[in-house]
Amino acid sequence: MRKILVTGGAGFVGRHMIGRLLELGDEVHCVDKLAPLTGGISPEDWPLFSPKDYKNFKFYHEDCRDYFKRVSDTDFDYCFHLAAMVGGRLMIENNPLVVADDLSIDAEYWQWAAKTKPGKSLCFSSSAAYPIKYQRAENYQLLKEDMISFDHDIGMPDMSYGWAKLTCEYLAKLAYVRNGLKSVVYRPFSGYGEDQDDAYPFPSICKRVLANKGAPSITVWGSGRQMRDFIHIEDCVDAVLATMDKIDDAGALNLSTGIFTSFIDFAKLAAEVCGFSPEVAGTSDKPEGVFARAGDPTKQAELGFKYKIDFRSGIERAIARYASL
Ligand SMILES: NC(=O)c1ccc[n+]([C@@H]2O[C@H](COP(=O)([O-])OP(=O)(O)OC[C@H]3O[C@@H](n4cnc5c(N)ncnc54)[C@H](O)[C@@H]3O)[C@@H](O)[C@H]2O)c1
Repeated sequence: MRKILVTGGAGFVGRHMIGRLLELGDEVHCVDKLAPLTGGISPEDWPLFSPKDYKNFKFYHEDCRDYFKRVSDTDFDYCFHLAAMVGGRLMIENNPLVVADDLSIDAEYWQWAAKTKPGKSLCFSSSAAYPIKYQRAENYQLLKEDMISFDHDIGMPDMSYGWAKLTCEYLAKLAYVRNGLKSVVYRPFSGYGEDQDDAYPFPSICKRVLANKGAPSITVWGSGRQMRDFIHIEDCVDAVLATMDKIDDAGALNLSTGIFTSFIDFAKLAAEVCGFSPEVAGTSDKPEGVFARAGDPTKQAELGFKYKIDFRSGIERAIARYASL
């Protein structure tokens, strides 16, 4: 039985990851402070399954930085470091200093790891770490892992969230070079799923379309032309499980499909799934972030992974669930 730590495990990614690890029979230690304005949910109320049904699940309701001071177990096989102040776009744009807490969370993680030497760290960075110069309307392109190089060029990441993630990646690299700590860095793009917090575009657009079924028009945030790479959370989990033993040197891997989808096209697709075809327009009164962000899937393919759930099927699953609630 592997002993695994998951920081921030009560959040959206963590719940899906932990579900899979518990099924695999791993001993999972989840530490989460259930921070307001994040996707964190108390284990009593996880929407898709109850972790309390598993004897191999242990939950610590505390700030991971306190946990790092309190616990110095040296026998963790893997540490999934997910704890972060994330939230949706509003959080990233309006609370940059709250999000900067991630700098301290990550610094304390790596100091703890240097002391306790887990077998492997899985560091959840973000597509927000990529230089924004490759994400503009006039010259956007698929983002490739080597567009961030600590030896050559790192570019300007997206807000304090992107800076914190970039710093975490750099610390992972230093921990490997200086302390011999093995790690892999994941850069998820727009992970989505039916139990995601409503602050994110995926549930909010699906629910808006469902609530306005049959309406002649629907609105989406920003211009609506902004594009993202939507990847189902189950595909993210599969990608991580398939690749986590294949990179040791803090190398990065996208979790992406390589497909650009605009918010307008997303809402149209969701409406089609619901059986109507409204006009879709942007509101332009809410932030839209960068213009286009999608991740090159080549390195994932080289490591033997390809996503399975296409966006339409993911929307169908979510709409079916929301309609049944
Ligand atoms: N969901 C995505 O598509 C996506 C995309 C890019 C990056 N990521 C990264 O993946 C990780 C998980 O994201 P998520 O979508 O599950 O977010 P989430 O908001 O659902 O989960 C984050 C969790 O971290 C917890 N947390 C925050 N500060 C903490 C602290 N100091 N101590 C302990 N717990 C703390 C929160 O309570 C929450 O449960 C994050 O690092 C995020 O940056 C996710």
